[in-house]
Amino acid sequence: MNKKSVLVSGGAGYIGSHTAVELIAAGYDVVIADNLSNSDMSGVEGVRAITGVDVPFVNVDCCDREAFAELFAKYDFDSVIHFAAFKAVGESVADPMKYYHNNLLSFINIVELMLASGKHNIVFSSSATVYGEADELPVTEATERKPATSAYGNTKQMCEDILRDSVAAYPQLKGIALRYFNPIGAHPSALIGELPRGVPQNLVPYITQTAAGVRECLSIFGDDYPTPDGSCLRDYIDIVDLAKAHVAAIDRMVEDKNKERYEIFNVGTGRAVSVFELVNTFERVNNLKLNYKVAPRRAGDVVAVWADTTLANNELGWHAERSLDETLKSAWEWEKRVRNIK
Ligand code: NAD
Ligand code: WQD
Repeated sequence: MNKKSVLVSGGAGYIGSHTAVELIAAGYDVVIADNLSNSDMSGVEGVRAITGVDVPFVNVDCCDREAFAELFAKYDFDSVIHFAAFKAVGESVADPMKYYHNNLLSFINIVELMLASGKHNIVFSSSATVYGEADELPVTEATERKPATSAYGNTKQMCEDILRDSVAAYPQLKGIALRYFNPIGAHPSALIGELPRGVPQNLVPYITQTAAGVRECLSIFGDDYPTPDGSCLRDYIDIVDLAKAHVAAIDRMVEDKNKERYEIFNVGTGRAVSVFELVNTFERVNNLKLNYKVAPRRAGDVVAVWADTTLANNELGWHAERSLDETLKSAWEWEKRVRNIK
């Protein structure tokens, strides 16, 4: 079993493509599996262009057990990072079965195929959404998870539990769940970045598309929250820093440095940033004015959530490094490249 080889499911997408680049930079061989349901080949081509490696890509639905089993038989890898999932919170409330089917079945297939083929290490893409409106801030990994308020959030909790129980029961497996806070920004090359389909639901793509003239005006959802400037607080984590956290997680398992066979790490900066601060920083570092207005609160938003990152800092030896300034510059460079703006 090749310990320096990793299957990246959902690797054509936003976080997966950046992670593939960092894995290759760290000396891993990478195989990307994706059905392009929320991406296109530009992510894979970007990974190849940045790394100079002709990374193998398999167009496969992780829910298709037979096709997925063929991939497991064909490639020699020992670790999987499982990104492949649907991620639109609102859509998951409107069409929960779409989310339960895709997000649960793809993960169940991965765990079962790993067991059947003697593979060892799983990193699962979890989310700060599992904390909901937390009782304590910043949240640590021990902070209680709140009942999910969307099917999407529920799939994250359920997959964490599937991983925990599987690792407890099957001695060959090790698992790490990474709870991402708010991933933003793009690779410094501007060759890969976030490519939302349709109207962006997330703040930073909405900002960059507004700056590019694709959207008319950014709505800031609420200025009357109990926070210093009245807007919500989040922990915005740079995409390259986030990608590097995956390399640290894989290294930890491959090198047998994990303390428990199932572990959870917050991946954030530890810093709370308001919507107004993010918008102002975007304007300042990119030297432009953004068209925005204050709008009513968005249903379902938590007031504030940010990470205590002590565990990831100490155990993974990982720290967020890029500043918010650099990250928001990279987001704009990427949008300009996508829109052909000089
Ligand atoms: P993304 O949509 O850009 O990437 C996901 C990729 O998975 C896409 O390329 C899509 O085509 C693929 N995919 C989906 N279902 C598949 C299937 N059944 N078989 C094969 N491929 C499939 O999303 P992302 O932002 O890169 O998110 C990656 C992971 O991180 C997801 O699990 C997401 O829930 C999680 N996450 C994302 C965020 C965020 O804000 N972006 C935050 C926390 C957690
Ligand atoms: C950030 C802040 C909005 C858009 C979501 C998912 C979460 C995780 C990350 C996957 C909030 C405000 C936004 C806009 C705004 N994904 N906002 N105007 O909601 O923190 O988290 O993505 O796991 O599960 O819920 O991120 O980027 O949507 O919002 O004012 O047009 O920006 O109210 O305060 P969120 P977001």
